[in-house]
Amino acid sequence: MAEVGASHNFGTSARRWLKPAAFVVALLPFAWWGYRALNGQLGANPIEATTRYFGDWALRFLLIALAVTPVRLLTKWNTIGRMRRMLGLFAFFYVTLHVMSYVGLDLFFDMQALLQEIVKRRYITVGMFALVILIALAATSTDAMIRKLGGKRWRGLHRLVYPAAIAGVIHYYMMVRAGFIEPLTYGLILAALFAVRILKRA
Ligand code: HEM
Repeated sequence: MAEVGASHNFGTSARRWLKPAAFVVALLPFAWWGYRALNGQLGANPIEATTRYFGDWALRFLLIALAVTPVRLLTKWNTIGRMRRMLGLFAFFYVTLHVMSYVGLDLFFDMQALLQEIVKRRYITVGMFALVILIALAATSTDAMIRKLGGKRWRGLHRLVYPAAIAGVIHYYMMVRAGFIEPLTYGLILAALFAVRILKRA
């Protein structure tokens, strides 16, 4: 009996602590960047290092958020489902920092230069495609918006997260100058996550 109680308590406290703990962990990459920025440890080209660093974390969080449902389906660990929205919003947080560091620090908010880059550089065009989708998903992530759109339409809209993630990987692939191992790895992880969903019909 005592054991049942103990495991119940563990389950409840895990449920209670999981989200705040994940929130703090998800902020660590940002804190690490802040620490290095304040200590002048971002290397010879800190703006490029910042853009790349946040781009990497944007893609990682996109994949982490996309991993929630497959992990839940494979393990039946339903509590993890509560973290999906938060992790998706962290992906959006890092994408925003990525784009702001490029548009703000690199282009000094010169919108004309940005438009030229979107037209001229294919990988920026592809990145913008992903960004527009992620803005729409973040804007409709609240409970009120889910109610307003209705479950079916909301789910349809949020399926666009896959094209956004694919575009994120292609964007990376198109700009990597040396090798393709990293974008390929992200692409394979994405394909595996998608395969689990298809096989489990989620
Ligand atoms: C979902 C959206 C996006 C994701 C996931 C993403 C992710 C990434 C990743 C992983 C990299 C490579 C980092 C590395 O080399 O380690 C990168 C590079 C870059 N991204 Fe994005 N990106 C996105 C959207 C955008 C947008 C909208 C823009 C511009 C408006 C942009 C501009 C850039 C630039 C300029 C670089 C090259 C940085 C440099 O080498 O100086 N990205 N991005």
